[in-house]
Amino acid sequence: MNNIILIGMMGSGKSTLSHLICDKIGYDFIDTDSIIESNEAMSITDIFSSKGEAYFRSLEFDLLNSLEVSSAVISTGGGMILSSANREILKSKGTVFYLSGSVETLCKRLSNQTSNRPLLQTNALKKQLEDLLRKRSDLYLDACHHVISIDNKSIDTILSEIYAILSE
Ligand code: S3P
Repeated sequence: MNNIILIGMMGSGKSTLSHLICDKIGYDFIDTDSIIESNEAMSITDIFSSKGEAYFRSLEFDLLNSLEVSSAVISTGGGMILSSANREILKSKGTVFYLSGSVETLCKRLSNQTSNRPLLQTNALKKQLEDLLRKRSDLYLDACHHVISIDNKSIDTILSEIYAILSE
């Protein structure tokens, strides 16, 4: 399938970049979190608090597994890579880019964007991001075809790097 799939930590810019890629190449925009929220008629925060993270992860798997799209840019929730099944499915559904950022970069971007993210309800944002990134780095690498570093780069530079790879 000729989809473009963006994975990475919360705050890595998956959604913004996906929209821009869609605008440029005319692909459809798909955001797994938004689809889950709309299917459940509930925010991610409410799903986590009322039904728990495991339930949310099962919804992520069901959605990814049943997603039959082409010519789409798929922006995924940051934890989509946690299961090995999801990592394999991701790679089978398109070209997967891991937007890789340091804790410092993510922390800066997320400092006023934590309210709708249940895993970031903490007074120790940096420590939480360090813990998540430590647990997840290898999983992101395992789930992707290409790694794009986002540290100290403008959106335009990141997009150019993605387009260069796509045109290879
Ligand atoms: C999560 C990331 C969120 C959302 C949920 C869990 C995670 O998506 O799926 O809050 O485990 O990293 P974004 O990466 O789009 O914020």
